[in-house]
Amino acid sequence: PQRTLVLLKPDAVARGLVGEILSRIERKAHWRITALELRTLDAATLEQHYAEHLDKPFYGELVDFMSSGPSIAVMVEGESVVEGVRLLAGRTNPLQAGPGTIRGDYASHVQENLIHASDCVDAAEREIKIFFPGRA
Ligand code: GTP
Ligand code: MG
Repeated sequence: PQRTLVLLKPDAVARGLVGEILSRIERKAHWRITALELRTLDAATLEQHYAEHLDKPFYGELVDFMSSGPSIAVMVEGESVVEGVRLLAGRTNPLQAGPGTIRGDYASHVQENLIHASDCVDAAEREIKIFFPGRA
């Protein structure tokens, strides 16, 4: 089975959507939450996590948003969980995310889009090392 790194971003915690989002993940019978931590992310952690976006024009804003309050880091394990959580999350821009997806149902801003999910197996292993180093 695969494992993936999910972040419930500061907007999800602030809006009280943690239970709703986690229940959508838990509903998948063959997926299990295997680590979970509430934590306010600092600039150094975000630089590692979002290394691929360092040169993007929105990087500064993204770091300000992602460090604006507590997030919840979650490790989820199960069959096809990497692609599966991406599908549950929906497109990056919530205006393009389908109905029934987390972003499509609850978000409306490209930055404050509630959830991060690793985009491939290699990224998942890299991100798990950042957030749960003891589980690498
Ligand atoms: P993550 O799971 O968070 O990595 O989302 P993603 O893979 O769907 O999107 P991507 O990796 O391309 O971008 C990372 C995050 O940066 C997004 O989830 C948004 O929070 C933010 N972001 C992406 N594009 C934009 C943009 O054009 N403007 C702003 N302000 N933020 C953006
Ligand atoms: Mg991404």
